[in-house]
Amino acid sequence: MGSAQKLLRWYDLHGRTLPWRKTRDPYRILVSEIMLQQTQVPRVILYYASWLKKFPSWKRLAQASNTEVIHAWAGLGYNRRGLMLRDIAREVVERGVPQSEEEWRELKGIGPYTAAALAAFTLDQRTVPIDTNIRRVLGRLLLGIPYPQPEHDARMREAANDWLPKRRRYADIPQALFDLATSICTKAPSCAVCPLREDCLTAPKFLSGSVPIPKAMIKKAIEKRHRDKSYPDRIYRGRILKLVREANPRPVSISAIGSAIDPAFDPVLDKDWVKAMVGRLMKDGFLKEKADEINLA
Ligand code: ADE
Repeated sequence: MGSAQKLLRWYDLHGRTLPWRKTRDPYRILVSEIMLQQTQVPRVILYYASWLKKFPSWKRLAQASNTEVIHAWAGLGYNRRGLMLRDIAREVVERGVPQSEEEWRELKGIGPYTAAALAAFTLDQRTVPIDTNIRRVLGRLLLGIPYPQPEHDARMREAANDWLPKRRRYADIPQALFDLATSICTKAPSCAVCPLREDCLTAPKFLSGSVPIPKAMIKKAIEKRHRDKSYPDRIYRGRILKLVREANPRPVSISAIGSAIDPAFDPVLDKDWVKAMVGRLMKDGFLKEKADEINLA
C-alpha cells in the first residue's frame, strides 16, 4: 500500500471532526482558511459558526461595513484579515466564484497556500497546499529533511506531485496531513507511532536519535517594540482598537489612550509612540480622527 493510502486510512480512523470539513462551499472554506491563518483551531471553532450566522454568504459579507466586520472579527486577532476577507467577498460578488487554483490566485489577498487549499477543498483538485504544518510532514516524508524551510517548497511540490495518488480524495489528503502534523509529526515527532514511519525518509534519523531537536526552530516574526515595553506594538494596537470598539458609538480622546492601554505609559516618552500607532490604524482604515478624538472608521 502506498503511503498516501496509508495516510488516508489513518485519517479515517483518527482524523478530527472539524466544522469546515463538512462542506465544499467555497465561501465557508475560505472563511475557515483565513481564520486559520494565524489563529489556532480551537479558537477558530469558537468564532466560525457565529461568523457564518452573521455573514452567511459572499453577498451578505460584501455588504458589511468596516465596523461590522471588526466587531465580528474581534477576538481572532490581526483585524486586517477580517477586512481583507470582506474585500475578497466583494470581488467574488463582482467577478464570480473562481473555478481553479489559478483563478483563486488572481484575487488580492489570496496567496499560493490559500489558492491551493481552496482548489483542493472545494474542487477536489490534485494539488497540495503547503503551510508550515504540511511543509514539515512532506519535507520529512518525501525529502528526508528533518526541519524543512520555505526554500524547499519547489522541490516539495515536485515530489508531492509524484506522491499524490492518480485519482483519490484530494480534498482529504491535506486535511490528513494537518492532523498528522499536529498529533504525530510535531516539532519533536513521535515516529514510533506514525502510520508512515516505514515510508518516511526522515523517521530513521529521528528514531536513531541522530537529529538534534532544536529549541526554537520557528523564527519569531521581527516585531516592532517601543523602548522596553512589555509587548510588541501589535498588542497595543489591538488594545487601542478594543478601547475604541467598546466606547463606540462615543469617540475616545487621543490623550486618554496612553494610560488606558499601558499601565506604564509615560506622557513624555510614549506620547508620540501612541500617536504613531493611532496613525497606523487610521492608515489601515480601522479608525478615523476628528478634533483629537478617534472612532471606528
Ligand atoms: N490549518 C489550515 N487549514 C486547516 C484546516 N482546514 N484544518 C486544520 N488546520 C488547518
